[in-house]
Amino acid sequence: MFETLQAQPADKILALMQMYREDPRETKIDLGVGVYKDATGLTPIMRAVKTAEQQIWDSQDSKVYTGLIGDPAFGDAMVKLVLGDAVPRANVAAAATPGGTGAVRQAFEMIRMARPDARVFVSNPTWPNHLSILKYLEMEMVPYRYFDDETRGVDFDGMIADLKTAHKGDVVLLHGCCHNPTGANLNAAQWDAVIEVLLETGATPMIDIAYQGFGDGLDADAAATRNVVASMPECLIAASCSKNFGIYRERTGLLMAISADTSAQGLNQQTLAFLNRQNFSFPPDHGARIVTTILNDDTLRADWMAELEDVRNAMLGLREQLAGELQRLSGSDRFGFLAEHRGMFSRIGTSPEKVEALREKHGIYMVGDSRMNIAGLNAQTVPVLAAAIIDVGV
Ligand code: LMR
Repeated sequence: MFETLQAQPADKILALMQMYREDPRETKIDLGVGVYKDATGLTPIMRAVKTAEQQIWDSQDSKVYTGLIGDPAFGDAMVKLVLGDAVPRANVAAAATPGGTGAVRQAFEMIRMARPDARVFVSNPTWPNHLSILKYLEMEMVPYRYFDDETRGVDFDGMIADLKTAHKGDVVLLHGCCHNPTGANLNAAQWDAVIEVLLETGATPMIDIAYQGFGDGLDADAAATRNVVASMPECLIAASCSKNFGIYRERTGLLMAISADTSAQGLNQQTLAFLNRQNFSFPPDHGARIVTTILNDDTLRADWMAELEDVRNAMLGLREQLAGELQRLSGSDRFGFLAEHRGMFSRIGTSPEKVEALREKHGIYMVGDSRMNIAGLNAQTVPVLAAAIIDVGV
């Protein structure tokens, strides 16, 4: 029977990872997949994670199933981390998922269950896997303008004009912070305007927040999400712990469904549990337990926050250095946007041919749409990248 299968399109980001591995050049630089690397090129296990794992190893006496939504303590800790006090806890249904991607997938399925004809508005561009999962689920997607190729900032007028065409029963997918793949983000006033349009149209927001703590700080990065949930009657939020806890392979995420009052919460909660059962039954626990241990222990939490701040500041430092180096080499300010962007990524805004030239000639790997992972750089590789960017004529 399997001879009837059709080859599926390769994921651009994962295909690039493979090409990088196969490149024998010692000078190659990996700016592809969104993984944080320290100055030595290592993706370290955070100190608090190591300590929490040790504590779990010492104290855990069973690996019996948790519950379909995972350990409720994980949900409580993460709801607090992401939403703060923006809405009463009783309005939030939450379920642990395998990573942020698992939360995105479950959110789309919940939308499809509630409204089989819902259209999902997606930023142009967005994380390619958003599009791939929507396509796989046969859900209709509508791109909205987002990135301004000239300024490398947000095409805000275009975005608002496109969002105004949404209706009640549609969903608008937003990136809570650190937009992937562009690095260009809305400011607070622009978020207010988006909320206004959502209220006018009656569309439901869904927020993917995968990089909390990587942009302007843990609370600052959650501010827009909190504003949306406090202003809107309903909202879906897919949160990831992969990046900010550095536990990529543990697959740790949380899906939240927020309703205007507690009466809808029960049905939402039951739906999330049902969806988990259908797709994978119990969600993974190890990463969730690490996160819960850290967030519920003052000392571990403070240490985690301090290390995350160091990571964030290191990325900001690399942004400044790269923008400065390019200013020096180009004699212009046209790369200033690199210091303005936030999060792991920046789209430099060049053609696939130039991205290929960077790879072929200089061994610099970035996604074909010219997204580069700033966290893949270090103080030594920044000047190499800057020189290559100028050399290929970006
Ligand atoms: C990325 O965009 O590089 C990350 O979110 C990793 C992934 O799974 O694609």
